[in-house]
Amino acid sequence: GPALALDVAEAESIAELRHQAEGCSRCDLYRNATQIVFGEGPGKAEIVLVGEQPGDQEDVAGRPFVGPAGRLLDRCLEEAGLDRRRCYVTNAVKHFKFTQRGKRRLHAKPNAGEIKRCAWWLGAEIDILKPKLVVTLGASALYALLGPKAKLTPERGHILQPANHPPVLVTIHPSYLLRIRNEVEQQRLRLDFVSDLHKAAEFRL
Ligand code: URA
Repeated sequence: GPALALDVAEAESIAELRHQAEGCSRCDLYRNATQIVFGEGPGKAEIVLVGEQPGDQEDVAGRPFVGPAGRLLDRCLEEAGLDRRRCYVTNAVKHFKFTQRGKRRLHAKPNAGEIKRCAWWLGAEIDILKPKLVVTLGASALYALLGPKAKLTPERGHILQPANHPPVLVTIHPSYLLRIRNEVEQQRLRLDFVSDLHKAAEFRL
């Protein structure tokens, strides 16, 4: 399988790791963000969900997936029979990257360097949690774990088994659904997304 470019941290718990991450300056994104948004969920979670990066609301709240994409994710998880409270939810990049437009802060895509730097934390989270399955939401999360060779479109809905790593279920990011204007198309892709998440729910059993 594809090789992983992840490191190992010294921390023995997520709480310890989160504490270390609060002082992170591995890339420059900490300079403009309000705070780090670390992963959250039970230490015994069997499923880890990985998004891209915190958005505006997550940056303010200090918690992952609490804004519009998070609410859609919650509804889709519920439809798929997955209880979010039993999952560990995190992001590939842990500081909000944005461009200022007047009073509004617009999401800016993290670049490959930022994702690689931050993958150190993601790798450490997965290392501590040892989940049965990691679900990547969108291209940035997939890139963080598997590098540039893994492509979202051909792998979507598949479970990959990288060497020395928990299996990875590849799916889209809920924000992608929010950007689709055509209602029929949006509904179709939403059903695919829920069906992918359902695979995660089944996988746990
Ligand atoms: N989008 C993400 O990828 N992560 C969040 O936490 C919120 C929105």
